[in-house]
Amino acid sequence: MQTISSIKKCKNQEKLVMITAYDALFAALFNNKVDMILVGDSLNVSHNRAIDTLSASMDMMIYHTKAVCKGAPETFVVTDIPFGAYFDEKSALKKCARVYQETNSNAVKIEGGRERAHIVKALTQNSIAVVGHIGLMPQFARSEGGFKIKGKNEDGIQKLIDDARAIEDAGAFCIVLEGVKEDAGKAISEAVDVPIIGIGAGRYTDGQVLVWSDMLGFFEDFQPKFVKRYLNGADLVRDAVKQYAKEVKEGLFPSSEFIY
Ligand code: KIV
Repeated sequence: MQTISSIKKCKNQEKLVMITAYDALFAALFNNKVDMILVGDSLNVSHNRAIDTLSASMDMMIYHTKAVCKGAPETFVVTDIPFGAYFDEKSALKKCARVYQETNSNAVKIEGGRERAHIVKALTQNSIAVVGHIGLMPQFARSEGGFKIKGKNEDGIQKLIDDARAIEDAGAFCIVLEGVKEDAGKAISEAVDVPIIGIGAGRYTDGQVLVWSDMLGFFEDFQPKFVKRYLNGADLVRDAVKQYAKEVKEGLFPSSEFIY
């Protein structure tokens, strides 16, 4: 199982693999297959059909983290802290301490660059391990008027480098970088000593993260350009359920092998 120090040592040595999980069933399938599992607040969109992540709550994140930790006891787990839970240091500490007290999660993730470095510092100084998240930050997309790609020009790249350095200095041990041009992904990865985990950030980051229901083809509402589908999960499930329904209707299930 990875630790904070082994994750940091992967920088420039080995690509890091992160995947999201929301329940014990799928977490068990990912256990020991990836470096980190993220209990992302994306669950509010893919599993709860909300329009964005903003209505995810601390109680939801705790519930799903408990399930994921049960399913993947040998994998490093990171819990996303939802919108509104870290507006100031005091409330961030209270909410994030809950994650450590009530679950076996190894770290928390919070969105924000320079403007939230003081929150990252308050957490890391109190022994709460933090994964940063910069670039396209879904929790702030509503106030920014949509999901906007970042790092499109030199100024944009410099701003992201400043963000990454600020949260690295504040103690984040790794940083998720979302929705940026590939040259921005490269420049930011080269600018800091902690691993940069990209999502829609090109080929040159220190690792990748994907939302499990996107990459396994269960979430069909939309498919961002950066998502590669490794399985057509939804098709497989639909076909199986269709077959089950057909067999029940036709009296083929249960056959003699499935009765007491
Ligand atoms: O909530 C989430 O799943 C995330 C990933 C997209 C990185 O933050």
